[in-house]
Amino acid sequence: MKNNAIIITGANGNVGSYIAKKYCDKGENLILIIHKNDHRIKDLVRDNSAKVKTLQVDLSNYSDLKIKLEKVISKTDWKPDRLIHTATARSSIIISLADTDPELWKSIINANLIGTFNILKTSLKYFKKNTYGKIVLFGSNVSRIGLPKGAAYAASKAAIANIGRTLASEEAANNIIVNTVSPGPIKIDDSQFSESYRKFREEYYKEKLRDIPLKRCASFQDIFGLCKFLLSKDNSYITGEEFFITGGKI
Ligand SMILES: NC(=O)c1ccc[n+]([C@@H]2O[C@H](COP(=O)([O-])OP(=O)(O)OC[C@H]3O[C@@H](n4cnc5c(N)ncnc54)[C@H](OP(=O)(O)O)[C@@H]3O)[C@@H](O)[C@H]2O)c1
Repeated sequence: MKNNAIIITGANGNVGSYIAKKYCDKGENLILIIHKNDHRIKDLVRDNSAKVKTLQVDLSNYSDLKIKLEKVISKTDWKPDRLIHTATARSSIIISLADTDPELWKSIINANLIGTFNILKTSLKYFKKNTYGKIVLFGSNVSRIGLPKGAAYAASKAAIANIGRTLASEEAANNIIVNTVSPGPIKIDDSQFSESYRKFREEYYKEKLRDIPLKRCASFQDIFGLCKFLLSKDNSYITGEEFFITGGKI
């Protein structure tokens, strides 16, 4: 159908913007959800205004998200049928759980966990109406190995995979398929991060790379390849799974 559409959260992020560009090249209608920044997708939106719509929202704000999503969709004849939820918050303060300020904990959980609930609840409405939907959530390998000094992020990523398992079961009868993609280190542009977070990532990844059998970080294409399959018509039976993209590292 020509009026299908894909909703992508974190659309200005490293992974989200790559995926958005790939699907745009394939001629898909896109609803790109951005937060504060738009530098990675500005040109894409400008050059493809008929097929690419954006909305700017903090995913932790349910009513704002609901209103803005309805508004964008109401201006088109699109029927959203796929969701790729890449948006994530990370703490720029690298700190153990014992030293974590409760407000910092809440802000990560709000963005990642409440935000996941909010985007699922608002998008499911459209998928259920058409008795068709495919969803890819983003977890992380930290959901099975933990993340010292990043407990809120690790907790939220593990929870997202479990939301996926649960939702897959709840919505199977509505022909809605849900899976979680959980990467290990991805080769990204980290210029957006604070200096301390960049240093933390550099050290963390240097150490992790030693243990990755394929001896490299995942590329954006590695991530996109799996998302593309999971969202495609070729996948009509795989649901409720969490897929680890870790170059062989368990
Ligand atoms: N990169 C890796 O090495 C890695 C490894 C394992 C798993 N992952 C997972 O893969 C996914 C994509 O990662 P990435 O590297 O592309 O992340 P990223 O570049 O940091 O992008 C995350 C996006 O989420 C948006 N965002 C943050 N808080 C938000 C909120 N409250 N409401 C709406 N949007 C919000 C950010 O927007 P603003 O910048 O405008 O705030 C940003 O565009 C994430 O789910 C991540 O957990 C990544």
